[in-house]
Amino acid sequence: MKSLRVLTGITTTGTPHLGNYVGAIRPAVAASLNAGTESFYFLADYHALIKCEDPLRIQRSTLEIAASWLAAGLNPEKVFFYRQSDIPEIPELTWLLTCVTGKGLLNRAHAYKAAVDKNTAAGSDPDSDVTAGLFMYPVLMAADILMFKSHKIPVGRDQIQHIEMARDMASSFNHLYGEHFVLPEAAIEESVATLPGLDGRKMSKSYDNAIPLFAPREQLRKLIMGIVTDSRAPGEPKETEGSALFQIYQAFASAEETAALRSAYAAGIAWGDAKQMLFERIEREVAPMRERYEALIAHPDRIEATLIAGAEKARQLSAPFIRELRQAVGLRALNQQAGVRAARADKTALPAFKQYREKDGQFYFKLVDPKGTVLLQSTGYASPRDAGQAIARLQGEGPAALTALAPNLAPVQGVTSADIEQALQVLLDAADA
Ligand code: TRP
Repeated sequence: MKSLRVLTGITTTGTPHLGNYVGAIRPAVAASLNAGTESFYFLADYHALIKCEDPLRIQRSTLEIAASWLAAGLNPEKVFFYRQSDIPEIPELTWLLTCVTGKGLLNRAHAYKAAVDKNTAAGSDPDSDVTAGLFMYPVLMAADILMFKSHKIPVGRDQIQHIEMARDMASSFNHLYGEHFVLPEAAIEESVATLPGLDGRKMSKSYDNAIPLFAPREQLRKLIMGIVTDSRAPGEPKETEGSALFQIYQAFASAEETAALRSAYAAGIAWGDAKQMLFERIEREVAPMRERYEALIAHPDRIEATLIAGAEKARQLSAPFIRELRQAVGLRALNQQAGVRAARADKTALPAFKQYREKDGQFYFKLVDPKGTVLLQSTGYASPRDAGQAIARLQGEGPAALTALAPNLAPVQGVTSADIEQALQVLLDAADA
């Protein structure tokens, strides 16, 4: 059986916090140990350039994130662990995908739309301060994903649209040039906690409420003592519901430990004591990792070497794949004739018309894509000649013939008019070639 490929990227603009650990690093390291999965984790430093213009911060964040993942137990021998900017095939693929991506698709991306809406609300030019990098973000991300034929992409909900766009780009490319890409899926882990931060809102760098994963012990204690609570006095029973402190504890503790804190809440534990329990529980899990983290950070050369080795391993996949893709789109050596013919002779990569007679005695046709999915279905014609003429029109005129033939075309569930138009255009182009 072919193994399942799981891939995710981490943008290198910040310092990992407890929320990143609980929500991404810990589950990813655990998942990377599953047999039958190949895991790809990479530092998305090209993506970081879109949001951050501070070179030192990019470099520092790359170091800290790499060290954090390694300290948390990621084994670079067992997984693909690399830095995006060490894989030149990724920006190259970005361009190939750019050329099959509708500008309209990118106009609909949430992050871009949010920037435009903000400008519009402020009465500014809609694209004011919007870089082409922000606009192209989803294409770069699709290249990350499609380059390694990944199946599952563990991401937060805010990234689902990007995975769907990657699927769209993969389909468009496959449709035009044959089946090269795997269609990826977002994997949203419902059971993984989102951690509240110091102020009770979701822990996030942008709310300034985060607890750094590897804050030194004393700083960790201080930060934990600052977690928001209500004003109930020692001895008064406390609510676990809506308690940030309780939620954070739960993300680290066993079921028994959590039950014990729940009873302590009911029995009126003082907030200071509850915070001390939380501190000790987190410290127990984090302290051994912090020791490894500090040792790693002290040797950037070792992390650098690990990432370079990771890139070499990843490029054993990306380098041959980009050669295949260049070949597919026609970026080929000029003395190479065979490939051209082979591609054209490869009829299986083209949609095809099928004509047939039903039990009702009428003549029908359908258009099927290379995978055998029906894209277009006719209604019954009295004679094979009539059906044949309709096919000839679709072949000769392409999508333009659809309106005139509409009365003789039955809808096919799940197929959009864009799918049909694209398939007809592919046939038209192939006939011209
Ligand atoms: N956009 C992702 C984020 O902000 C990071 C990322 C870049 C990514 N490339 C990716 C995630 C590819 C998954 C797959 O979280």
